[in-house]
This record gives sequence, C-alpha cells and structure tokens, in this order.
Amino acid sequence: MSHQNPLSARRSFLKKIATGVGVSLLPELTEAAPSLPHWNNDEETYWYALRDQFLIEEGWIMLNAANLCPSPRAVSEALHEATRDVDRNVSYQNRDKYAEMHLTLREKLAQYLNAEVGEIALTRNTSESNNTIVQGLPLTADDEVVVWDQNHPTNLLAWQIQAKRIGCTVKVVSTPPNPASPQELADPFLAAITPRTRLLGFSHISNVSGVALPTQLLCQAAREQNVLTLVDGAQSFGCHVINLEQMGCDFYTGSAHKWLMGPREVGILYARKELIESLWPHVVGLHYDEKQPDDITRLTTFGQQDIAKMPAMLETLSFHEQVGKEKIEQRVMNLTATLKKNIQEHLPQANFVTPLSENMSSGVVIIDFPNHDKKDIFEKLYRNHRVACSTKGGLRLSPNIYNTLEEMDQVVLAMKEIVG
Ligand SMILES: Cc1ncc(COP(=O)(O)O)c(C=O)c1O
Repeated sequence: MSHQNPLSARRSFLKKIATGVGVSLLPELTEAAPSLPHWNNDEETYWYALRDQFLIEEGWIMLNAANLCPSPRAVSEALHEATRDVDRNVSYQNRDKYAEMHLTLREKLAQYLNAEVGEIALTRNTSESNNTIVQGLPLTADDEVVVWDQNHPTNLLAWQIQAKRIGCTVKVVSTPPNPASPQELADPFLAAITPRTRLLGFSHISNVSGVALPTQLLCQAAREQNVLTLVDGAQSFGCHVINLEQMGCDFYTGSAHKWLMGPREVGILYARKELIESLWPHVVGLHYDEKQPDDITRLTTFGQQDIAKMPAMLETLSFHEQVGKEKIEQRVMNLTATLKKNIQEHLPQANFVTPLSENMSSGVVIIDFPNHDKKDIFEKLYRNHRVACSTKGGLRLSPNIYNTLEEMDQVVLAMKEIVG
C-alpha cells in the first residue's frame, strides 16, 4: 500500500455524484461546510458524501473513535466562532447568552438519552462523571461495590482508592474471554451480589476488549435486589441509541469528544432524580450554596469554564439529529461487521479479543497477532499506511461514520502487508 490512496479517484468520483459539485481540495475551516447529503438508496454514496463534513485529511484513515473523534466542520466552526466572540467581548452581558444555552443543551441531551433534564449535568469528561459518583455516593465500611476488571481506572481504581478512605469493600469480577451468550457475561456480576452490595459499576462497552455487556439485563437484575448501577457509557454514548429509562441504570456517564464527535472536554452525567440529593459534591465552587439539594448542577460547580463548548455541543446534537441516531448506530455496526469479516478472510493469524457476535460487541474491534509486537504494527500502520488506531487491549480499531467500507478493506490489506 503506498502513501497515495489508490481509491482516492473513486472517492472523488463518488463525492461528485453525491454532492453534485466538482472535485476540489478539502475546503478550509473558514469556508462554509457543504450541506448534508440527502439519504438515498445508495448508502455508500451517502456516507462518502457525509465524510466531507469532516476536516480529516484526504488519504488518512481514522480508526481511533474509542479514544477521540474529529468533529464535523460545523461543530469546529461553532466552537471557534464562540471563542472569538468571547475574546472580542468578555463582559457578563455578552456571555449571558451562553448561560442560557446551558439549559437548552441539557434539555436536548435529556431528549437524546430519554431522561429528564433535571437528571442531566455537563462535566468535562467521563473520567470526571465517574469520579463524581465514586466520590459522591455515601458509603459506609459495611458496604460493598462490585466492578468489572475491564473497567476504566475511573470506575475501578477510583473505587479502590475511595474504599481505602471509607473502609468499604470493592469486589472485582472477570467475565469469560470467549462468552457464548450475553447471559454468560452477566452471570459473574450477578453471582457477586450479596446483601452488602450497594452498587454495580461497569462499562457498557469495554475499551480494552470491545465486549458489550448486557446492560439492561444487569441494571434490571441489580434493581430487583436494591443495588444501584453506574454504567460507564464512554464507548456507547454517541454511537448507540441510548434510552436510559429503558436501560434502567441509576447513573450513566459519557464523553462528547468520543463517538458523539462533539467538542473536546465535554462530558455528561446522568443521575436518577431520586438519588441526586444523596450525592456529596466532589468540588464545591461558586454558587454551590444557591442550589437546591436535588439540583444535579450542584455537583458540577467547577468554576470558570470554556463556554464556547455550549454552541459547539448544540451544533453536535443538531448534526446527530439530521443524520439520525439509528442510522449512525447501524453504520458503525456495519463498518465493524465488515472489518471483522475482512480480518477473518485475510488475516487467519489474527486472534479476536472482541466477540464476533453483534449482540456482545459494538464499534470497538480488538485483535492480537501472537507473533508480532502490537506497537510495531501500530507505528507501521500510521507511518506507512496513514492509519490511526490504538494499542489498548491489543491492536484496537474503532471506526465511526466518517469511515468508509473501502477503508475497512484498506486497513486489512495494510495489516496483511505488515504481518506477512
Ligand atoms: C470505558 C471508558 N471510560 C472512561 C474513559 C475516559 O474518558 P475521558 O478521557 O473522556 O474521560 C474512557 C476513555 O477511553 C473509556 O474508554
């Protein structure tokens, strides 16, 4: 595979059909973003055209959605415009409009997640949202928390450190490496519950294996036993259609800068309304004392913040609304299914860390090459083939809607060239 993308001619041709405009260099941020393409019968043409909404350099393949996603140009523009607006005029009067956007944004997020606005707060990222619950939940030395060994440190180590302060117990459970069914993934958690268990904390989708847990099953089983649930949605928020009422969790967390393709350093925290009053704040900032105990924003008085994120987030949600969250979910699943099939066909030496089955996996695909150093493959993919991925849990490839099916072929051919 050469540095010159061999399929660029085809891509340009497809773009031309889809957008009705001539082939051009990717426009700069300052140029107006092209209007969103119309959905038609030729899905691939649509997704090729949609890619023009992003600033991704021609010939580069971004497969690190699980870590960080690019924003559509309209989002970048909204962020930059608002930053310039504040720099032009830092008065309270000029900034008031952003404070108003805060509530609108929470309302839209609540709609997006099927929750109530009073249950949604904005944080800086999933890490902070997880820690807000870990440090805020009133626990005693008699209490027990059950967590997954695949959790992110902010939902694992954070509990262990908290346990050192409080004296409570943290039970860490493992799931089978090759689960035969979602129930097999749920069983270790359910078996760990005792009368002392106060909370189950787990990632919806693991960032180190790509395993998708049966979240609804776990949340419902936990609730039946009076056990709270903290679902870390870093790898599901923005990628899957999330219906929090249906999921039945007590806390859900996520980052806008991952699958949602929103501005960086924006997180969300959902807490079921009956629980908000019981949570301790981990930061006490200005205006804390003006808030009611059941106001979730009491937990996020972080001081001065970058308010330019507000219009950028609104633009992000508008983008999702226009494309459609169901379509986004289907596309990500289609991309990963194609990627897995290509790997099976062309790379027999690769071991899947991620289950092949669609009901136990999602947008994160992790593989291992027994006789190769993953860091070496990762570097060669980047340097020689212009592919950005990750080495978390193995060689981790995570596509989002700005990727094409052709890229799912290209990356597999690139890996084949590297590993022989
Ligand atoms: C499951 C999970 N939780 C939490 C995080 C932390 O996200 P952030 O860095 O946006 O706080 C990540 C990041 O990859 C993650 O995968």
